[in-house]
Amino acid sequence: MAGTINILVGTMTGTAEIVAEDIQEALGEEGWTVELILMDDLEESVFARTGTFLICSSTYGQGDVPDNAMGFYEALKKSRPDLGYVRYGVIALGDSTYHDTFSFGGKRFDELLTELGAQRIGESCVHDASSDEVAEEIGVAWAKAWAGRLDEEKADAAD
Ligand SMILES: Cc1cc2nc3c(=O)[nH]c(=O)nc-3n(C[C@H](O)[C@H](O)[C@H](O)COP(=O)(O)O)c2cc1C
Repeated sequence: MAGTINILVGTMTGTAEIVAEDIQEALGEEGWTVELILMDDLEESVFARTGTFLICSSTYGQGDVPDNAMGFYEALKKSRPDLGYVRYGVIALGDSTYHDTFSFGGKRFDELLTELGAQRIGESCVHDASSDEVAEEIGVAWAKAWAGRLDEEKADAAD
């Protein structure tokens, strides 16, 4: 059935962007239209786009969102738009050696979007840079299952 997925990318050293690019390719092959949007200079108006949103963000500082996501995150926190019409998923990248703040970048976005009324679809995907797992492999496998779930919900809604 497919549709549009907008991946909003928060990254410092590019891992989250590689994950997003690989998801764009994999879901594109399954018929999805996937837009990849870096969070730099992003405003809340991005949520006026058609489709579902996928937050793909790493973690920096002391459990903060990356620098390129900071302006977007803080602006949302301040203006608190009603995002009741938004459905989203989360891919949170982190490193478990930062045990007190592990994957908090993605978690912060998740908490904020929920507070603003948006609905998360499925559990978040979490990647640990200290594990043997490759971020883009984990991300693509998770995203395929997640997109399948979006499809099922659409099919249910059409019943
Ligand atoms: C200076 C620095 C601070 C970091 N702080 C955290 C942190 O607080 N919590 C966490 O889970 N990961 C932290 N990380 C790990 C990154 O989030 C992780 O390596 C991620 O895969 C990087 O993705 P990116 O290349 O998209 O920025 C930190 C990494 C660096 C270099």
